[in-house]
Amino acid sequence: MINVVIIGAGNVAAHLYRSISAAEDLQVSQVYNRTAENLGFVRDFKKRCTDINELEKAELFLIAVKDEAIEEIADVLPDSGGVVAHTSGSQSLKTLSKFQNFGVFYPLQTFSKNKEVNFREVPVCLEASSDENLEFLKEVAGKVSDKIFEVNSEQRKALHLSAVFVNNFSNHLYALAAEYCKENGLPFKILQPLIKETAAKIETLPPYSAQTGPALRNDQKTIAEHLKMLNKDQKNIYSILTQSIQKLHGKEL
Ligand SMILES: NC(=O)c1ccc[n+]([C@@H]2O[C@H](COP(=O)([O-])OP(=O)(O)OC[C@H]3O[C@@H](n4cnc5c(N)ncnc54)[C@H](OP(=O)(O)O)[C@@H]3O)[C@@H](O)[C@H]2O)c1
Repeated sequence: MINVVIIGAGNVAAHLYRSISAAEDLQVSQVYNRTAENLGFVRDFKKRCTDINELEKAELFLIAVKDEAIEEIADVLPDSGGVVAHTSGSQSLKTLSKFQNFGVFYPLQTFSKNKEVNFREVPVCLEASSDENLEFLKEVAGKVSDKIFEVNSEQRKALHLSAVFVNNFSNHLYALAAEYCKENGLPFKILQPLIKETAAKIETLPPYSAQTGPALRNDQKTIAEHLKMLNKDQKNIYSILTQSIQKLHGKEL
């Protein structure tokens, strides 16, 4: 049995807790958080911990706190010889170099505490301070996910930035569209099949080939009409994205 300590009690920590607790040959031995309130998802009270010095030895310590706090945690977490890994897309492996054995265990998905995710489908991007530690992280990751990748710190940063484009920015566009629908007495739900098909389409087509719309068609009349319908902020976003589509597809600007 491999004992895993989870540090943090946010979105990622809660999902790691669930998937590790359900995995064969893995168990969460303790979950540490600086405050007790957010540890409610840890059913077994004995596993809850709010004093970092009370953490017991374990084979793996997963640090799932907000990016700025990883160094702070690394400073105070005692080194008991287990592999210490953070779950961040943007922080370097070196952040944990004070430990004898360290690595990165980055689950590439958008996690919210109360939204279920099938962890077996989540790509887990691994990096480690030695081949031995990498093999160990692969063994652990393989017990919770079917999608394991070896990704170095530079590549992980690029991946994280790409994730900002496909997830954070797309979602922001959904939020703007939802607001716009509401202002016009339309249910946002009506756009859901379109959103689903946009995501499904790129399973068989490269995003470049999947593009449609007035920008690609260089339909100036429609573009001008749309711009008239928008407020200043919306207009800026519309124009930047329209220009970007046209540039990528070699259209007249
Ligand atoms: N959410 C995602 O979709 C996602 C996906 C992949 C990777 N990640 C990465 O996973 C890590 C955790 O993200 P998250 O979304 O789970 O974060 P989160 O929900 O915001 O959780 C933040 C956690 O960090 C703790 N924390 C904040 N400031 C702290 C400090 N100064 N000292 C000690 N602990 C502190 C919080 O403690 P309190 O409960 O006491 O406030 C809480 O346990 C980050 O590195 C993030 O980049 C996130």
